[in-house]
Amino acid sequence: MRRQTTIALALVLAGMAGAGARAAAPGFDPIRTRQAGQDLVTGSFIGMRQAVIHRLPVKPYAGTAMAIAKWMQQFPTLFPAGSDRGDNTKALPAIWKDRAGFEKDAANASAAARKLALLARADNGPAFAAQLKVLGGTCGTCHKQFRAR
Ligand code: HEC
Repeated sequence: MRRQTTIALALVLAGMAGAGARAAAPGFDPIRTRQAGQDLVTGSFIGMRQAVIHRLPVKPYAGTAMAIAKWMQQFPTLFPAGSDRGDNTKALPAIWKDRAGFEKDAANASAAARKLALLARADNGPAFAAQLKVLGGTCGTCHKQFRAR
């Protein structure tokens, strides 16, 4: 009888621990946040490519490019310890092994996007087109080393 009570109590406590873990889950989720952000970055990138292809004025993209610059500045903070697994993340362990390299790639992407924003502000279509390719290159550089396929 006493043993059954102990088991029942253990089960209740285990259930509470599980509920506690679930209750914590709806808070800030760095993996989903960074993945959603990257999808938005991609949409912005495609939009700017379309502008280049169709030779549209690039000035309206100054804010978009600056947003990518700001996002990439914050990007490494969305990879806290422990966010290397779960939720289908494609972040590679290299991010935590070579933090400096990862932060440098993010800084390069941010700088490229900032320059793109300034060229947009100046409405310099040809230079904007060339710089968009530079920005695209910074995506590939980081993905190659730090993102799983
Ligand atoms: C500093 C490194 C870095 C840079 C720069 C970078 N990415 Fe990524 N990107 C990542 C990592 C790491 C992931 C995987 C995130 C995860 O799954 O947790 C990722 C994921 C993505 C994804 C998938 C998102 C999802 O829903 O799973 C897309 C799309 C993407 N990046 C696009 C881009 C584009 C476009 C650029 C350039 C404008 C870019 N990235 C620049 C590191 C980078």
